[in-house]
Amino acid sequence: MRLPAVEVKELYFRYDKEYVLEKITATIWDKEYIAIIGPNGGGKSTFVRLLLGLLQPTKGKISVYGRPPLEARRLVGYLPQNVNFNLDIPLLAREVILQGRLESGKYRFGSEDMKLLYQIAKELNIENLLDRKISDLSGGERQRVLLARALITKPKLLILDEPTASVDIASQKRIYQILKTLSMTKIVISHDINILLEGVDRVFYLNRKLFIHENIQLDIQNKEGHFCEMELFEELRRRCDG
Ligand SMILES: Nc1ncnc2c1ncn2[C@@H]1O[C@H](COP(=O)(O)OP(=O)(O)O)[C@@H](O)[C@H]1O
Ligand SMILES: [Mg+2]
Repeated sequence: MRLPAVEVKELYFRYDKEYVLEKITATIWDKEYIAIIGPNGGGKSTFVRLLLGLLQPTKGKISVYGRPPLEARRLVGYLPQNVNFNLDIPLLAREVILQGRLESGKYRFGSEDMKLLYQIAKELNIENLLDRKISDLSGGERQRVLLARALITKPKLLILDEPTASVDIASQKRIYQILKTLSMTKIVISHDINILLEGVDRVFYLNRKLFIHENIQLDIQNKEGHFCEMELFEELRRRCDG
């Protein structure tokens, strides 16, 4: 039997007067790879912030591995949108990654932390970056370091909010290649059409309401290899509204 990783029932959310998310019901299964796409302001970041317990639903219910989001926080690795580093703070990449292992009250790292650090650095091919200042890294290098920080918690669920928004094409591809090899449940917000071709199980199109695309690969193939992002978004929007 499939184990639900995330269950969302009749979810509504608003910051002010207007609903940003409306009547959202969905189940994400353990080990599934979900891409969330949609226009700017469609509610994608808000949706994942709700899954993390950083925001509370206006109405409706969310559970993550059977628990309220806040209680499931330790099971979730998160890379937020637009992480900005204060360039005045000379943090090394290794220190940024180890932040993922910080718990309240913990102030020093043990051998288990170090073992994980090197293991993950090896997996992501960033061993040579560990002693560089985070502010000196390229966009793509920095995103891999931040991915390592999310992974060092050994999450059952990994949530990435536009991880390739400000990196070059080669680094984008590299990040998606890495994601493909990771076996936990993954939710990735992206504007990048490439992700739809890289092993995603389902696509969630979010524009206040949610439309779930069960088999995006097939739909792309039906276009006989010729499609552009705008066409695809148009098509998804049409089905979402219809
Ligand atoms: N902290 C906030 N306070 C008020 N409105 C917000 C806040 N954050 C986002 N919004 C609004 O909520 C809507 C959805 O935003 P967001 O979830 O960031 O969309 P996306 O990530 O899809 O671009 C937008 O209209 C945005 O302006
Ligand atoms: Mg966003």
